[in-house]
Amino acid sequence: MEIEFVAADAGAPDRTASAIVVFEGGTLAGAAGRADQASGGQIGRALAAGRFIGAKGQILDLLAPAGLNVQRLLLVGAGKAETFDDLAVEHVAASAFNAVKGSGLTTLRLELPDPAAARAARAGFAVQLASYRFDRYRTTESADKKPSVTHAQVVSDDAAAAQTAFEPMSALADAIAFSRDLVSEPANILYPEEFARRVKALESLGLEVEILGEAQMAELGMGSLLGVGQGSVRESQLAVIRWNGAADKDAQPVAFIGKGVCFDTGGISIKPADGMEDMKWDMGGAAAVAGLMHALAGRKAKVNAVGLLGLVENMPDGNAQRPGDVVTSLSGQTIEVINTDAEGRLVLADVLWYCQDRFKPRFMIDLATLTGAIIIALGHDYAGLFCNNDALAAELLGASGAEGEGLWRMPLPASYEKQIDSMIADMKNVGGRPAGSITAALFLQKFVRNLPWAHLDIASTAWKKPSTVPTIPDGASGFGVRLLNRLVADRYEG
Ligand code: BES
Ligand code: ZN
Ligand code: ZN
Repeated sequence: MEIEFVAADAGAPDRTASAIVVFEGGTLAGAAGRADQASGGQIGRALAAGRFIGAKGQILDLLAPAGLNVQRLLLVGAGKAETFDDLAVEHVAASAFNAVKGSGLTTLRLELPDPAAARAARAGFAVQLASYRFDRYRTTESADKKPSVTHAQVVSDDAAAAQTAFEPMSALADAIAFSRDLVSEPANILYPEEFARRVKALESLGLEVEILGEAQMAELGMGSLLGVGQGSVRESQLAVIRWNGAADKDAQPVAFIGKGVCFDTGGISIKPADGMEDMKWDMGGAAAVAGLMHALAGRKAKVNAVGLLGLVENMPDGNAQRPGDVVTSLSGQTIEVINTDAEGRLVLADVLWYCQDRFKPRFMIDLATLTGAIIIALGHDYAGLFCNNDALAAELLGASGAEGEGLWRMPLPASYEKQIDSMIADMKNVGGRPAGSITAALFLQKFVRNLPWAHLDIASTAWKKPSTVPTIPDGASGFGVRLLNRLVADRYEG
């Protein structure tokens, strides 16, 4: 997708769809009014013939409008002017793109009611996000089924400033696309070592990447993580990604940890066949952390950050771990593995411990497609936020609101901890049906010492089908990259 910023009087190329964004109650103001005049009142007549009032998400689509030198003209409703914020800009821009992407035309020209540079840049960002498509494995799709719009021109009163404001946003959109690609890849292609290779390749952006294999993890004593991968022919990996962008290279880093279960069959506690293919995206937490590190490097963030990915495959096998097995984690605490399908927490237990021991971070935030129960609790527009520190929770909720990635805070009641008491070990890995997402978080908390920590259960948001947001095509959402990039940008840089 090629995105450029142009002045209002710039001519449109051949095969253009022009989208004019209008407020509710002002449908023929500004650019729309000028287009109406040029077309001899055709837009006014079209408005009178239908129900378009400029409500958010409404689109009036005119083919071959008279007197205008574009092939298609869209009025795109923005809702009330008072509520038109940055996320609303994204919404209209992505909606306009989605409406014409398969029209056969090649350029989208987009005109906002307010052509300020920052707003135009936002619109470009939204179009870039909406144009994401994972089509690596389509070999027979005919040209008329592929998206046709490959260019966007966003009108701005200062095209150069819009271009400058767009650069870091475009770097962020690239990072989100990287994350979405990882999540979309099938598990026969993206297994732990391949994931690690793709992360290693991020060194070209200036990140430092270190990969630990099973021998090193065994040496360290990561019995909990290694138990999960033990039934797989694929070797488990731990990826450590570092970005040292702060002025003081020795300043304490912020730390992000991702669950990277490249495929989760459930292991010996095997999952039902129906829908099991979804478990290719059980590495969505690791993909979000990798995407975040990509974003920080891409925009040269002034922060020291580490990203750690626990990469494993959970398979049934003659050598797989059994329900009832007891493993010793890196922390020294022992775990009775009641259900081999509650494997994400076993992976994170060792990575959390390793992270705080080695990096002494300011905080740790883990992201994990951890429980089906979070989907039951929150649906697909909110991830669960579990946090031992009110200030960090407030920062995360603020970033969530600004980026439109929903978070809802959940409790960590000490009284529920008895659900994970074991008869023979320090804890067991499942706590029964009541509050399944909470007992999973309480389990993780046993591997966090005295520092601010947040756990984001993104099983609800990592994959959206159908998507409810026009900037997110169906499938991998990239959830978490925007949110955490914003957290770092607003609170931990400089
Ligand atoms: N990867 C799953 C959680 C999940 C479910 C992610 C649906 C995305 C969509 C996790 O490893 C798991 O299987 N959790 C179990 C826990 C149970 C055994 C306590 C679950 O949620 O059923
Ligand atoms: Zn599982
Ligand atoms: Zn899982």
